[in-house]
Amino acid sequence: MANERIYNFSAGPSMLPLSVLETAAKEMTNFGGSGMSVMEMSHRSKTYLAIFEETKANLKKALSVPDTHEIIFMQGGATFQFSAVPLNLMGENGIADYAISGNFATVASKEAKKYGTVNIAASSEDRNHTYIPAQSALKQTAGAKYFYYCANNTIYGTEWKYVPETAAPLVCDMSSNILSKPVDVSKHGLIFAGVQKNMAPAGMAVVIIDKNLAGKELPFTPKIMSYKVAIEKDSMDNTPPCYTIYMLGLVLKWLETQGGVAGMEKLKSAKAKIIYDVLDSSALFSGCAEKDARSDMNVTFRTGDEELDAKFAKEATAAGFDNLKGHRNVGGMRASIYNAMPVEGVEKLAAFMKDFEAKNK
Ligand SMILES: Cc1ncc(COP(=O)(O)O)c(C=O)c1O
Repeated sequence: MANERIYNFSAGPSMLPLSVLETAAKEMTNFGGSGMSVMEMSHRSKTYLAIFEETKANLKKALSVPDTHEIIFMQGGATFQFSAVPLNLMGENGIADYAISGNFATVASKEAKKYGTVNIAASSEDRNHTYIPAQSALKQTAGAKYFYYCANNTIYGTEWKYVPETAAPLVCDMSSNILSKPVDVSKHGLIFAGVQKNMAPAGMAVVIIDKNLAGKELPFTPKIMSYKVAIEKDSMDNTPPCYTIYMLGLVLKWLETQGGVAGMEKLKSAKAKIIYDVLDSSALFSGCAEKDARSDMNVTFRTGDEELDAKFAKEATAAGFDNLKGHRNVGGMRASIYNAMPVEGVEKLAAFMKDFEAKNK
């Protein structure tokens, strides 16, 4: 086992496509005849700028980003955006609406409270975030500067199946389902995503912003957090996370060979169904999320017996399926099946679950 790759069900950082890792390995010490690694290259060099521009163009193409919106790369992961969003968009004494459908929206709303008034537009906390609030339940505030939601709740295993209709510009944390399906970017004022699930190694967030929303930051906003500056300097006001952007470029080329986001949408639904079918026909396992809110990226389930859950996670690791232990907020198990998880990994996990059930009746 030690020399083989395993099926890594980690919620993030998570699996990258094997061919991407192999290309990166091949190019590691001498990229394209430059005599150096991408890690060693000036971000202002012609060779690196070509990688940067190609990656940005391919991301624009993959998500059909309209010309009204700009793509920026920012360090600090998704959490950095929890602060950057209110600092840039709330304005003086501003109000923002937050839909609380899980942990990360909660954390983001607490951060936003430092800079203005936060209205909790909806919350699924009453049933431990096992469901997604309906459109009719969203309480929108007149004059809100933006409406915030998290499209996929990585910890609880729930996913928004609709894009909220809101009067205020829509802001979305898409960290754990970006590039898994087509998205109507034009409906969003701002989309951000930490890259460490479906895009690249950790260390960066992709931000897609309606250019009209830039330039309204609070006066004390750190320059490093300003969307306006990032747009003006094309994400290069300081040294960008060069290698992460290069890896994103490789992932986007791989995505293209898989039929792009439309190809991923078909695949992710098929992969998720394999595990949900096991859960729905099992007498031992049950899914944590309500059926109509189930995430195709993070499948949460449990046996109802903590010791048995621990036994499952341990035996799964020994069998080559790692990182299946659920988050402490939910318990049980979580199988994160992002874009790079092959179908056979999911099929083998399903077979392992059935086998485990047969042995632990
Ligand atoms: C949906 C979502 N938002 C935000 C975060 C926080 O991301 P980061 O660790 O990049 O700050 C995560 C991390 O897993 C996440 O899943």
